[in-house]
Amino acid sequence: MTTSLPPGYVPPSDLLAERAILVTGAGQGLGRAVALACAAHGATVALLGRTPKKLEATADAIEAAGGADPVLIPFDLAKANTPEYDQLAHLLRREMKRLDGIAHCASHFVPLSPLAHQTLDQWLTLLRVNLAAPFALTKACLPLLSAAPDASVVFTGETHGLDPAAFWGGFAVGKAALPALAHIWSEELEKAGTPRLNVLVPGPMNTPQRAVSHPGEDRARLPSAESVAIAFLYLLGRESHGTSGKTLRM
Ligand SMILES: NC(=O)c1ccc[n+]([C@@H]2O[C@H](COP(=O)([O-])OP(=O)(O)OC[C@H]3O[C@@H](n4cnc5c(N)ncnc54)[C@H](OP(=O)(O)O)[C@@H]3O)[C@@H](O)[C@H]2O)c1
Repeated sequence: MTTSLPPGYVPPSDLLAERAILVTGAGQGLGRAVALACAAHGATVALLGRTPKKLEATADAIEAAGGADPVLIPFDLAKANTPEYDQLAHLLRREMKRLDGIAHCASHFVPLSPLAHQTLDQWLTLLRVNLAAPFALTKACLPLLSAAPDASVVFTGETHGLDPAAFWGGFAVGKAALPALAHIWSEELEKAGTPRLNVLVPGPMNTPQRAVSHPGEDRARLPSAESVAIAFLYLLGRESHGTSGKTLRM
């Protein structure tokens, strides 16, 4: 079930030319880095996140680097239901005409605590944003993705989803289900061949979420989100053609 990034992988500069990619959580951290990397490698990107100002800052950085004008989608994954996801897919069809991939980078996190201290409301939001939203968003976009010749969906996993540990609670449980989601869906779509669905599990990286999960740590010593974004490019691009239902652990 696991796969790996080819050693020394360097994405070609035109890897995502002519492709349209949706990135969630694009206002900061990993999502911002993935959006910038996709745009720098030729994609037109749609930026989804909760805070419009952060999305605008990502869009400004993409445009300043010479990337195509992004589509901005302020959207709260904790509150959306089927009608909102359907409207979102409609907007993507109207604004981008096609969809060749989704990088699911948005993430809800609560500070670590014993299960006995976690609440049902915390669990419902964790599972809604980190597990049900990637399912619902992908499902709404399935007609668009299926029309693209080699569409690729990447879910972002987490180390504690693969190796559960005390205090990681509902966050780890939601992340643990993503490899099953990718595997089930890839089997169901095997004959069609598109979209492909995989999970990428980054190691620790220097992002705002890390400051909450590991307060006091010297984050400057961690790998950057930009270095992890290269693995997203690999899974989104043609060089991973045929790879589906796999978990890539960094
Ligand atoms: N950082 C690490 O060390 C690490 C390690 C392994 C895996 N990961 C995984 O990598 C992914 C990205 O993590 P990160 O560190 O970049 O996280 P982050 O800095 O906390 O960023 C999360 C992003 O998700 C967005 N978001 C949160 N709730 C949302 C909602 N309800 N609706 C829409 N957008 C929402 C946030 O938007 P706003 O800012 O607008 O709220 C933000 O842009 C996550 O899946 C995380 O679990 C991280």
